[in-house]
Amino acid sequence: MWTNAGTLRDEKLVEHVQNLTPMLKQLTIFPSDICNYRCSFCHIWGDTGWALKEPQRVIREQLDIEVLKKFIDQVPKGRNPIGVILTGGEVMLYKHFEELVTHLRSKRMNVYVNTNGSLIKKRVQFLIDNTAVVNISIDGPEEYHDAIRGKGSFQTICENIEALMAEKKRRRKMFPFISVNMVLSTSNYKSAIDFIPALRERFKDAEIVLHDTKNPWQRKRDIAVNFAPLLYTSQERGEAYAHQMKEHLDCDVSPAWQGFVEDEIPIDTEWLKRDLQAIWEAEGVDYSHYVDIHDYYTDIDNVFGRSKCVAPWHELIVRRTGDVYPCVDLPDYKFGNINENSFQELWEGERAVRFRDYLRNDNLMMCNRCTRLFADPESF
Ligand SMILES: C[S@@+](CC[C@H](N)C(=O)[O-])C[C@H]1O[C@@H](n2cnc3c(N)ncnc32)[C@H](O)[C@@H]1O
Ligand code: SF4
Repeated sequence: MWTNAGTLRDEKLVEHVQNLTPMLKQLTIFPSDICNYRCSFCHIWGDTGWALKEPQRVIREQLDIEVLKKFIDQVPKGRNPIGVILTGGEVMLYKHFEELVTHLRSKRMNVYVNTNGSLIKKRVQFLIDNTAVVNISIDGPEEYHDAIRGKGSFQTICENIEALMAEKKRRRKMFPFISVNMVLSTSNYKSAIDFIPALRERFKDAEIVLHDTKNPWQRKRDIAVNFAPLLYTSQERGEAYAHQMKEHLDCDVSPAWQGFVEDEIPIDTEWLKRDLQAIWEAEGVDYSHYVDIHDYYTDIDNVFGRSKCVAPWHELIVRRTGDVYPCVDLPDYKFGNINENSFQELWEGERAVRFRDYLRNDNLMMCNRCTRLFADPESF
């Protein structure tokens, strides 16, 4: 999550994007937006999140499993298995969660589950049998995490992770890999330095490593820890984005960008930078190619990671409504809807072509704090 991703830079990257042809590598599905947590910084359910602005009856709607399965059946098989990220909301609350995962596996797709970890225990066997990675959010040592995610949630999640690790061990299974993701927000960043020691204290027998973007699979581990930056924008930038989308792509944007607006980010960025470097050094990770966190939080106009996005050529996002988008956190420019359009219409249609043509030459005003620009090089 921190890397100046990709081997191609500057002109080479521009040239690469100019010549890209669409090849789907990753599907991200939000089958439902509902969630049992209300994490304070969450861009969906948090204090400024968009879900609270929508009618709750609508938010509770979930994707029709039969429509979803039909859509999945139309995805052409590539050379490599397609990776499918299941997220939400809390995806384990989706009423057809198991049926969906089973169907994806029947198509030889690799399933990655992003979860708050609260509902793992009931599905330990299922996750072991069907998923490649379970990515669990923990937002710091117990008191910090509980302040964001609710009292008692740290212990619940840790018990669930313990159950998953124990069963994997008993069955001698390598999958799913367990990773823990801590988003560094204003209320928890000072605890980052204590996070890995706290996990080691909690899971005494487990091998806990810091995720190393250069050598992601090199070290034996029970849990890989990842630190992720807060995604944010300014009001001004968000408004400029809305204007850009209207003017150049004839698109009226949703309120989603507003969920990322932070008027100010009261983070002592020099403190955070110092602590992160101490963590990386202590864990033996080469951080020379990582994003400078001070610049990240203090200069919103700066572009990090890749200077151009390749996601629209490799990824599709399916939301709870069936609407399909190229951008993971911005349900704005719609390619179509799986209730009405075939995969081919969505992937190769006039709207997809128009969006990619625009992105070949321009970035969107929201791009520069999007995970797809500084995701691990392995992602795309
Ligand atoms: C929206 S959640 C959905 C999955 C699941 N409910 C969870 O909490 O992990 C996906 C990830 O986004 C993170 N997230 C939420 N709001 C964020 C923000 N404003 N900036 C960065 N990450 C954010 C969460 O911490 C979580 O790791
Ligand atoms: S658990 Fe995930 S989706 Fe739910 S409020 Fe927290 S970050 Fe948002």
